[in-house]
Amino acid sequence: MCGIVGCIGNGAVEVVVEGLKRLEYRGYDSVGIAALSKNRLKVVKDAIKVEQFLKRYDLSEISDTRLAIGHTRWATHGIVSEENAHPHSDCKGRIVLVHNGIIENHHELRERLLKRGHRLRSDTDTELIVHLVEENYKGDLLEAVRVAVGSLVGSFALAVICADKEEMVLAKRMSPLVIGIGDGMIFAASDVVALLERTKRFLFLEDGDCARLIPKGIQVVDSESGREVERRVETVVWNVEDAEKEGYPHFMLKEIYEQPRALQQTIGAHIDGANLSFRQANEVEQLFEGVRKVSFVACGTAYHACVVGSYLLRDFTRLDYSCDVASEFRYAPPPLDEKTVLIAVSQSGETADTLAAVRLAKERSARVLAVCNVRTSTLVRLADLTLFTLAGPEIGVASTKAYTSQLAVLCALFSHLATFAGIGLDKRDGELLRKGLLGLPMRVRQALEAAEEVTDRISKEFFRSQTFLYLGRKYNFATAYEGALKLKEISYIHAEGYGAGEMKHGPIALVQPDYPTVAIVVRDSVYEKMLSNVEEIKARKGPVIAVSSVNDEKVKRLTNFIMEVPEVSEPLYPAVCVVPLQLLSYKIATLRGCDVDKPRNLAKSVTVE
Ligand code: G6P
Repeated sequence: MCGIVGCIGNGAVEVVVEGLKRLEYRGYDSVGIAALSKNRLKVVKDAIKVEQFLKRYDLSEISDTRLAIGHTRWATHGIVSEENAHPHSDCKGRIVLVHNGIIENHHELRERLLKRGHRLRSDTDTELIVHLVEENYKGDLLEAVRVAVGSLVGSFALAVICADKEEMVLAKRMSPLVIGIGDGMIFAASDVVALLERTKRFLFLEDGDCARLIPKGIQVVDSESGREVERRVETVVWNVEDAEKEGYPHFMLKEIYEQPRALQQTIGAHIDGANLSFRQANEVEQLFEGVRKVSFVACGTAYHACVVGSYLLRDFTRLDYSCDVASEFRYAPPPLDEKTVLIAVSQSGETADTLAAVRLAKERSARVLAVCNVRTSTLVRLADLTLFTLAGPEIGVASTKAYTSQLAVLCALFSHLATFAGIGLDKRDGELLRKGLLGLPMRVRQALEAAEEVTDRISKEFFRSQTFLYLGRKYNFATAYEGALKLKEISYIHAEGYGAGEMKHGPIALVQPDYPTVAIVVRDSVYEKMLSNVEEIKARKGPVIAVSSVNDEKVKRLTNFIMEVPEVSEPLYPAVCVVPLQLLSYKIATLRGCDVDKPRNLAKSVTVE
């Protein structure tokens, strides 16, 4: 969840600062840099955001260094404070390191190190690691780190440097870490986005790897045996422009408006417009051969995509299914066997709970299908097959374009499974869905245009509200949850998503004139039922904001505000209905003065349990 960046080469501090700015979306409680200057390690750190940090501290003193590491923190162990910020140093200040992940045996390690006389200055689990490295350091940093990580229980990505030499040592277990190869420079980072400006060539470390980076090259060893291992250099396709705001005030707004393009690319990658076929038909058919059950698993917004997936499965196939948030999956996993396909949906492919669910499913012989946005992620490596979303890098913490792209991929998948003998329910329905998908980017563009002015008005009217209720049914049951999640994560207004049919079992008690309800009432199979729910709220004088299909006079008459979306086939409605809800949340949050791209306490990628 935190960000790591490191560099060996001229201008190392500049590279690290640049990387930290790009990585801040991963965690932004505190920031710190360590650099080797005149045989001494200099550490600068503080519990502030990168921008303030650069204003407060003069880094010119270390600008000529050729070795530096940096970190942006999302606090797990220990409060947000300067002492707890990374980098952390050993007793003598000769070795420093930065860490992502969680060390589970930190209590035991702390006691052990204190007994042996180490001076510990922070409450973090990270600091313990640097003291373990110190104990094992006899002139070979790689060896010291390799032995030290043998005592760690938990997850880590580490970058370590020592005052003695121009070298950096890395170690990885269940937290992402990459090595970038530049012109006369070598980089390390927890995310390729940090380095896109510098290189497209990366070497992806695997769990259990330790690496030594020196100006002349890279050595990777297995941390248990110490034996050298080979890791391939891969080229990433993302451009640095993809990770820039391009004139928008926030990444989130840019990403909302990028949805038509993201969908166009994603759908084009999965459906051949010329003959309306599903491109990965063979691989999918092989994976689903003899399968009886699908188990959906994901976190956050990606989980809402799974909920839509589970409705697609019920409408288009005769398969059995389960659908779980990944954080609960391991406590009581559904039956998993070789006749199960686990569908794991994740933008980053690095979410710890989702990966844990995938590992468990693999142990139980299930087949794994990933829906993922990052080609080089851990999830993609673990999966038997991946259907990629081509949304480009998503930087805003609140997921938008990744979500609608995930919906498109799931629609494409189930449109094909619908035609698959023994599994599919109706070939014709599958074809119609594929046809509808081809028009989706245009429909989403129309939804965006329609939402612009009306979301201005609605946000001005309601941005002071304390709480919101979101209601939907069937496919838009997920939209209600996603709409509520978008609002609460960036505006800090309490919002609840509910299946509209459940309203009478509780939430209706809250309805009164200052309690706004957002109802998704589009022309689909549950339209009449949704209208009844709206009537019930109006009867209790609750203000209603509706997402409705175009030109629906009935909904217009019944509700206070409407956000119109173009008509699409039922399974595609979640992708168009979520658009005005994203914009509304964004506008409410900005009116409340919230930092939309860096919401309080959140992080883009939850890489710890
Ligand atoms: C975090 C992000 C969400 C995201 C979720 C799952 O909570 O803030 O936007 O939906 O993680 O992330 P993933 O990368 O697995 O889709």
